[in-house]
Amino acid sequence: MSARYRIEELNPQHDRASFDCGSEPLDRYLKQQATQDARRRITACFVALAPGSDVVVGYYTLASAGVPLPELPAEVTKKLPRYPSVPAVRMGRLAVALKFAGQGLGGALLADAMTRALRSEIAAFALIVDAKDENAVAFYRHHGFIALQGDPRALFLPLATAKTFLKH
Ligand SMILES: CC(C)(COP(=O)(O)OP(=O)(O)OC[C@H]1O[C@@H](n2cnc3c(N)ncnc32)[C@H](O)[C@@H]1OP(=O)(O)O)[C@@H](O)C(=O)NCCC(=O)NCCS
Repeated sequence: MSARYRIEELNPQHDRASFDCGSEPLDRYLKQQATQDARRRITACFVALAPGSDVVVGYYTLASAGVPLPELPAEVTKKLPRYPSVPAVRMGRLAVALKFAGQGLGGALLADAMTRALRSEIAAFALIVDAKDENAVAFYRHHGFIALQGDPRALFLPLATAKTFLKH
């Protein structure tokens, strides 16, 4: 799947005009906000392009984050140093165009986000996400994400686990 789609950082050549993932806030973010957030170094945005074109068919965003230790399950924190929080990478948004849904592109974007987080020289313990609804929670759980304490829609995946996932 990843081989069929180019995934690269958003740039002005990319055609976002017709992007429709079925969620108006996610469509609007890509078209109106993503470039400005990237320029201000608030989030980085990565897009999947349809084969042989610059048409955006999926995207996700990444930014630095931290997870307060009490939000992680006890079986995870018992193996961690007693710092107030651990470093993380937040995938704030993930969306696939309706026309391309159900073909593995969401999974390929998730794998690409994990790869970029693991490739960074700056340490991060986990990839964290904010699922927008129960459907999104199910998608992330399917990929091994675990709920953070206190908010069932905030989930995390230890990057050590992601490394194993990427090998399969
Ligand atoms: C959620 C979303 C990104 C999934 O993208 P997709 O390209 O349709 O998903 P894929 O085809 O890559 O699916 C990959 C795997 O996840 C599974 N999956 C997909 N959607 C799922 C769901 N809602 N619940 C559980 N599993 C799901 C697939 O069965 C597939 O499993 P497999 O690899 O074991 O065969 C897409 O539906 C979307 O953009 N939705 C609207 C925006 C959204 O909800 N974003 C979520 C973050 S807020």
